[in-house]
Amino acid sequence: MRKIKRVGVLTSGGDAPGMNAAIRAVTRAGINNGMEVFGIRMGYQGMIEGEIFRMDSQHVSGIIQTGGTFLQTARCKEFYTPEGRQIAYEQLKKHNIDAVVVIGGDGSFTGANLMAHETDMVFIGIPGTIDNDLYGTDYTIGYDTALNTVVQAVDKIRDTASSHNRIFFVEVMGREAGFIAINSCIACGAEVAIIPEEHNQLEKVRKFLNERASKNKSSIILVAEGSKEGSAMEIADMIKPEFPQFDIRVSILGHMQRGGSPSAKDRITASLMGVAAIEALLDNQKSLMIGWMNEKIVHVPLSKTVKMHKTIPHDYVELAESIGTFLPKGIKKNHIN
Ligand code: F6P
Repeated sequence: MRKIKRVGVLTSGGDAPGMNAAIRAVTRAGINNGMEVFGIRMGYQGMIEGEIFRMDSQHVSGIIQTGGTFLQTARCKEFYTPEGRQIAYEQLKKHNIDAVVVIGGDGSFTGANLMAHETDMVFIGIPGTIDNDLYGTDYTIGYDTALNTVVQAVDKIRDTASSHNRIFFVEVMGREAGFIAINSCIACGAEVAIIPEEHNQLEKVRKFLNERASKNKSSIILVAEGSKEGSAMEIADMIKPEFPQFDIRVSILGHMQRGGSPSAKDRITASLMGVAAIEALLDNQKSLMIGWMNEKIVHVPLSKTVKMHKTIPHDYVELAESIGTFLPKGIKKNHIN
């Protein structure tokens, strides 16, 4: 096996707080182990366009506490074509780069996995997405910060909701996954969470509001953006005419969930994953994602993480129900990841 000497690092897909900590760790661990490290700007788009530059330790100083990604990021359609990947490969070869650390989510790893099959380029993935939806890791970089941002926002909405006796539908991010919604529901004591993993959620909302009708109390209903019932706005529009006695409002938290200074947990895990990515390269590993399971670093084949689906652990649902939060029933035991 050839020894990896020149490593590229990029962030791809939606930015997530803690990505900078991961870039910093990859860069410093790489340099400390005698490698040359190259930053690739704007994800795969920058790879195709040759936005590649050599980094030293100073490039990554003072970034661990910042949100976003200083390398910037993109969702690059061209990289999903063989032609796009060929151009990207040639750009990497111009800089004699033999391995790339990709910090991103599902889509980013799919691209890396394809190029790893077509060429001799070595890829290591680091899970970076606020959605926490990657198979093979308990935790993705950015999720903890985003969850805390949602909790703070919902606490504030609760103040005004209870002052006016209003029902709020609060929409949170998470793409096809309900991790942000279900966990912020537990953390905020929200009354209902509508998550994509479940069907027939409107019935649940109706049942809840019927029970609520006699109590004249405010409530927070969290809606994961990927819900099968539609967006928070659509759900509220459907529900409103049926419950004219309630003052129903909608709040969409949107991209504020992606910004902000990373939490200590995000900084620490991102740093450990960054070092683990370099260690994997030193150990001649390839095509794997660095994951975090049961408080330990694990290696997961990229091919597996892009194919498999991570679902909400059933224990979470049971826990939430046992403390009185109104959550969906029926998530099957065999969905525990
Ligand atoms: O994957 C992260 C995420 O923030 C999702 O939660 C959301 O659906 C999506 O990205 C939004 O992407 P964009 O900023 O490109 O609209």
